[in-house]
Amino acid sequence: MMGKLVFLVLFGMLCFFSRSLSANLERLMDNVVVLRVRDIDGSEVPVDISCGEAFEGHPVIWKKNDYIHCSTPNYRGSFNCHWTKKKIRSDASVLLVKGHRNQESVPCEVESSGSRMWCDDMNCPYKEEQHQISVTVYMSSMWRLEAYTKAFYLRDIVTPGRLPNLHFVKENNDDNNNSVFKWDYPESWQKPSSYFSLLFQVKVVARGETCHSEEHIRMNVTSQTEYTVDVKARRYVFCVRAQDKHTGGPWSHWSNCSMNSPNGGTPCEQRQTA
Ligand SMILES: *[C@@H]1O[C@H](CO)[C@@H](O)[C@H](O)[C@H]1NC(C)=O
Ligand SMILES: *[C@@H]1O[C@H](CO)[C@@H](O)[C@H](O)[C@H]1NC(C)=O
Ligand SMILES: *[C@@H]1O[C@H](CO)[C@@H](O)[C@H](O)[C@H]1NC(C)=O
Repeated sequence: MMGKLVFLVLFGMLCFFSRSLSANLERLMDNVVVLRVRDIDGSEVPVDISCGEAFEGHPVIWKKNDYIHCSTPNYRGSFNCHWTKKKIRSDASVLLVKGHRNQESVPCEVESSGSRMWCDDMNCPYKEEQHQISVTVYMSSMWRLEAYTKAFYLRDIVTPGRLPNLHFVKENNDDNNNSVFKWDYPESWQKPSSYFSLLFQVKVVARGETCHSEEHIRMNVTSQTEYTVDVKARRYVFCVRAQDKHTGGPWSHWSNCSMNSPNGGTPCEQRQTA
C-alpha cells in the first residue's frame, strides 16, 4: 500500500557524518537526525558516524497516505490539516509536524489534541502556484518513528465556507408562485469576488431527503447568487453549495433550508423584494 523506505534515527548528541552522507540527512529536531539509506530490508549497511557514546538507532517508516486531510477557506496561505489517530496509529504520539514548499519551510504547529495542525504559507493569492506544498506528521510509538506525508497545491484544498444568508423572495406575479432563492459569498472567501468567482450548484429535493440525495426535483449550476425555483410542490428542501469557478476545486458543504415544513429542518426565511 505504501512505499517503504528505511531510515535510521539517531537519538543523541550532535553527530558528525562523512560528507557524502550529508545530502541524505535530515535534522528533525535538536536530538533527532534522520539518515536516508537505500532499502536495506534484511541486510545491514555500515555507516560511518562519530557521535560520542550515547545514541540509539531506530527504524523510521515513511508513508504516503490518504489519512491526512488539508483544507483552507481561501487563498491567503494559512491552512489546516487533520488526521484520525485511529487510522494512523492510536498509540502513537505526534513528535513533530513539518511543512515545506520547494525547499522553503512552511511553518506548522500541531494542536494539543494531536490530530490537527495549522500551517501558514506565504502565498500570493494572485500568482499561479508552481510548486506543491508538502506536509509531514512524525509519530513515535515505542521504538518506531513513522512519517506520514501529503503533498498538494493550495488551489486543490481551497474549499469555500458555508454560504450565509440563504433566504427567498416571492416573485410578484399572478402567473406563477416562483420562489427566488438568494445567498451570499462566504465571509471567509477571497475578495474581490469579481476575480475570485464561485460556481454554485443548486438542488431541490423532496421533503425528508437530504442534500446528498440522488433523487432531486431540480439540479442546476449558476454563477449568480440567486436561483428561481419553479416547482409545483409546496414542500421541498432547497440546497446550494459552491466551488472555485476557475480551478474547479473542492465543493463546500451544502447549505439548505426547508420550505413549508415546520419540523423538517431549518425553515426557509422569506424576505420582501427590494
Ligand atoms: C399561487 O398561489 C395561490 C395561493 O397560494 C394560488 O391560489 C394560485 O393558484 C397559485 N398560482 C399558481 C400558478 O400556482
Ligand atoms: C441541512 O443542514 C443542516 C446543518 O448542516 C443539516 O444538519 C441537515 O441535515 C441538512 N439537511 C438536508 C436536507 O441536507
Ligand atoms: C438552469 O439554470 C439556468 C439559469 O441559471 C436556466 O436558464 C436553465 O433553464 C436551468 N436549467 C434547468 C434544466 O433547470
